Amino acid sequence: MNMLEDAQYKEITDAEVTEALTDGIRQIGNCLNAFGNAFPYACSVNRFYEPGPNRNWTAGFYTGEVWLAYENADLAGPFSKDFFKVKAEAQVRSFLQRINDKNDVDHHDMGFLYSPSCVAAYKLTGSREGRQAALLAADQLITRFQPVGKFIQAWGRMGEADNYRFIIDCLLNLPLLYWASEESKDSKYRDIAEQHIHTAMANVIREDDSTWHTVYMDMNTGKFSHGATCQGYKDGSAWARGQAWGVYGTAVAYKYTHQKEYLSYFKRVTNYFLQHLPSDLRPFWDLSFGNGMEEQEPRDTSSAAIAACGMLEMSKYLRENGEEDEAVRYTSYAKKLLKALYDHDRVTDPHMSNGVLLHGTYSKKSPYNTCTPEGVDECVIWGDYYWMEALNRLHNPGWNIYW
Ligand code: GLY
Repeated sequence: MNMLEDAQYKEITDAEVTEALTDGIRQIGNCLNAFGNAFPYACSVNRFYEPGPNRNWTAGFYTGEVWLAYENADLAGPFSKDFFKVKAEAQVRSFLQRINDKNDVDHHDMGFLYSPSCVAAYKLTGSREGRQAALLAADQLITRFQPVGKFIQAWGRMGEADNYRFIIDCLLNLPLLYWASEESKDSKYRDIAEQHIHTAMANVIREDDSTWHTVYMDMNTGKFSHGATCQGYKDGSAWARGQAWGVYGTAVAYKYTHQKEYLSYFKRVTNYFLQHLPSDLRPFWDLSFGNGMEEQEPRDTSSAAIAACGMLEMSKYLRENGEEDEAVRYTSYAKKLLKALYDHDRVTDPHMSNGVLLHGTYSKKSPYNTCTPEGVDECVIWGDYYWMEALNRLHNPGWNIYW
């Protein structure tokens, strides 16, 4: 039996969703007032974000939060819908400038940057600037396609041997390409997305249903070369956020391709994630750590928020496929993860933090990984965003997703 079936685990209630969403919107409104047109950095320091320029792979999550606040502004007390719209539109202009200037866009994270900011702007308000920026970002993203191996190269100079790899996170960059094909009526974006999805699905899931963070492809044969971690504990372990990107990533892969086997890939990756949670349901930063490690290892609450969004998204398609019981089950698991975050990790008072969700981990150094350490046991801006997205999904079940 899945641990989450145990009666001790409760689902987040509608009243708790409304309360947490309201608190989150207040935090976002306060941050907008304090930061002006600046963006929070990827992670907080001692629970407080510093303002800075539009940079890194993470700025889009902040604008995404502002759009979620805009969509739920009736809950927001002193902040009006128009307040959030004006602020979000200023940020969209900054994204247009960033892609026009090609400022810090030579990597694969165009979807993380441009879906929750500019695609959202276009979907919600018909923003021409948002549309233009997102199409340019899609053009930028497809420049990273590697035909030998059929994948989008994540990082570094194109074709470099030590960068000839994709990473599991990239599945969330691909909705931008589907959107671009739909808008431009040019199938080239979707064709590349589909080739990448196929390569990722064939190579990223290991036999035990855990996932590789990064996958190197052979530059000559185009076949799988080897897997490696960057931000996980070690190569064979399951980085919690990578597994969570796999949960949401398989859900969006199914959304866009309707490949039946992706339903089962989703279940494998998700079940592994759920079965490797500690008993309070708040993931350690790597799923190889379990109960008893509370003093030694930090959590990554952003992983739980991402996985919850993925489960809520896939529940729609499970239902469409006649798997009603599975849809109900994964929806319930998502609500239980969110209840754990509600009880332990949300910011309830602006004096605690200027973020929304506590106890995320960006990159923790281990003796075996290659990451640059930062943001350990802090707010992380995508954790805030996905927590808000998950709450919004429950509050507005017909929500038109930004991805
Ligand atoms: N996509 C980078 C990360 O999850 O840290």
